[in-house]
Amino acid sequence: MDFVSMLPRMSEPAVTIAGTGSYVPEKVLTNAELEKRIETSDEWITTRTGIKERRIAADDEFTSHMATKAAQRALAQAGLVAEDVELIIVATITPDTLTPATACYVQDNIGARRAIAFDISAACSGFLYAMEIARKLISGGTVKNAVIIGAEKLSAFVNWNDRGTCILFGDGAGAAVLRKSEPGEGRILAMDLGTDGGLTHLLNIPGGGSAKPITKENADEHLATLAMLGKEVFKHAVNHMKAAAESVITQAGLQSSDIACVIPHQANLRIIDAIADRLTVPNEKVFVNLHKYGNTSAAAVAIALDEAHRGGAFQRGENIVLVVFGAGLTWAAAAIEW
Ligand code: UT7
Repeated sequence: MDFVSMLPRMSEPAVTIAGTGSYVPEKVLTNAELEKRIETSDEWITTRTGIKERRIAADDEFTSHMATKAAQRALAQAGLVAEDVELIIVATITPDTLTPATACYVQDNIGARRAIAFDISAACSGFLYAMEIARKLISGGTVKNAVIIGAEKLSAFVNWNDRGTCILFGDGAGAAVLRKSEPGEGRILAMDLGTDGGLTHLLNIPGGGSAKPITKENADEHLATLAMLGKEVFKHAVNHMKAAAESVITQAGLQSSDIACVIPHQANLRIIDAIADRLTVPNEKVFVNLHKYGNTSAAAVAIALDEAHRGGAFQRGENIVLVVFGAGLTWAAAAIEW
């Protein structure tokens, strides 16, 4: 099913992104180090994916810790104190605990006592799903502002003996502060979200949930690790990301040439190149950081947004497009006037 919506409507105030922040763990795991552990090569990983290294969280560094640091940086940039935050959404598939939500730990860590806090699970699309939920709650008047966070400790859910998946993923967090747009400020122009639950089998963590709890008997089967049919996922990723990006560009009344920066999900450089081609956006306008971090699922587009913003990839008043794809299958895009 596809859900398409557009702001601003006359009755719905526009929502702006007032600040961004990100955090990645210190430890770097390079392709060269992976060559020593499994049968792979820097050459294979680089040519098939574009990834050169990824960050790995320390044993005592949880998803909530990374989310907290990213949120604090976004709040500082937005000039919003934690006491005034009204909503926290963490998008993650690697929560600290199944319950309570990782967002509750973040609320406590940053001291946002007035905020309601919950997690959403939409895999790599989670940050933009969170953006749409927060946008609606702000424009509808339920809350004045929101901190949305994409945060993952994927290293805890990877089978380090499976060369088909372990080379792809990394850890990190990215955040954004949303609030009503004041005159002269930018705004989220359009969003497009989609899901195809008929393809859950293409990318999942099969065990560790109520369907297949981890037991003494199945403990060696790596059921609580990421499993993916890569080639199939690749095909769907290109098609859905292209369609979602085109949808928000059209809804916002823009042309490809009006876009200052496209920030795609960071899973594979070949997917990113294919989308740039199909959208007829020149490569220099497409933000890429997956060579440094690999695929950090819900965190990827959030970290990329923060790095692109702080690095000057786009300026106030310019239009950007975010576009993501992940397990579910899920996908989403946003057109934003900055
Ligand atoms: O974040 C959610 C969205 N995720 C994605 O969008 C990921 C989409 N999929 C992909 O990015 C790609 O499918 C992968 C990067 C995961 C894999 O690339 P591929 O070109 O589809 O390779 P493949 O899985 O078909 O494997 C090709 C060959 C196989 O060998 P044979 O059967 O041809 O002899 C694999 O066994 O490469 C082999 N291979 C490796 N070789 C060296 C698989 N992994 C490795 C490895 N090092 N790490």
